[in-house]
Amino acid sequence: MLAAIVQALRDSRHLLVFTGAGVSAESGIPTFRDALTGLWARFDPARLATPEAFAADPDLVWGWYEWRRQRVLRAMPNPAHRAIAELAGRVPRLTLVTQNVDDLHERAGSAEVIHLHGSLQAPRCFDCAAPYSGLARELDEPEEGRRLPPPRCERCGGPVRPGVVWFGESMPEAALQQAFAAAAECDLLLSIGTSGLVYPAAQVPQIAARHGACVVHINPQPVAPGGPREYSLPGAAGVVLPQLLQAAFTD
Ligand code: APR
Repeated sequence: MLAAIVQALRDSRHLLVFTGAGVSAESGIPTFRDALTGLWARFDPARLATPEAFAADPDLVWGWYEWRRQRVLRAMPNPAHRAIAELAGRVPRLTLVTQNVDDLHERAGSAEVIHLHGSLQAPRCFDCAAPYSGLARELDEPEEGRRLPPPRCERCGGPVRPGVVWFGESMPEAALQQAFAAAAECDLLLSIGTSGLVYPAAQVPQIAARHGACVVHINPQPVAPGGPREYSLPGAAGVVLPQLLQAAFTD
């Protein structure tokens, strides 16, 4: 199996890397579904990750996202992020699609990251949607769940909201179409650190497989392959990816 994956990587003309929260786990950012420390376990997302929740209690929602953003600011890209950034120089074409709202791919050197669920780094006005550029770089660490009044929009005075896609909101259409088009064209897709539970993002690997691409799932939880050219590489992304690059491009 590994030999087939290594060969597919060496031969790839268009590689699609599709990541979820698991790629940032080794940077200390909890995933959504980790039983112990997952963000779900701490807060009921239905209470916080919706436009209604923000309208009802903007200070609680803004405080929670600022706590998450500060955790990301204090985190560092891990070997998985760095290996993905290195891959861009190893194949003729690489498309990086992420479900994550952190900027660790960018900080590891990846360019043109397609964020399907938005980004913590792109706040905008809740009322007029004007982008907000006044985010404080480093706050003193807001403790989890501390209420913080959101900044006000420089254009209309409305409350600033996180630039993430909330439950009940549609995903950025251009990003989704870009991801689906790349999935239909790629010859190899690495699905890294995602439970594949949330649609429509979870369609990306399925579209690639339907179009004949080789699909490889990198996850400590083995993923049942859905077809003849679908593989599961069990393990942590920060360990498996550097090994895969080593096997494909230096041995
Ligand atoms: N390396 C690789 N995978 C890992 C690692 C690791 N070190 N640690 C955990 N994982 C795997 C877990 O086994 C799990 O399958 O990462 C996956 C994380 O799954 P989720 O927490 O469901 O995160 P994700 O798939 O990104 O969720 C998708 O759901 O709640 C929404 O918008 C949210 O973008 C998120 C979407």
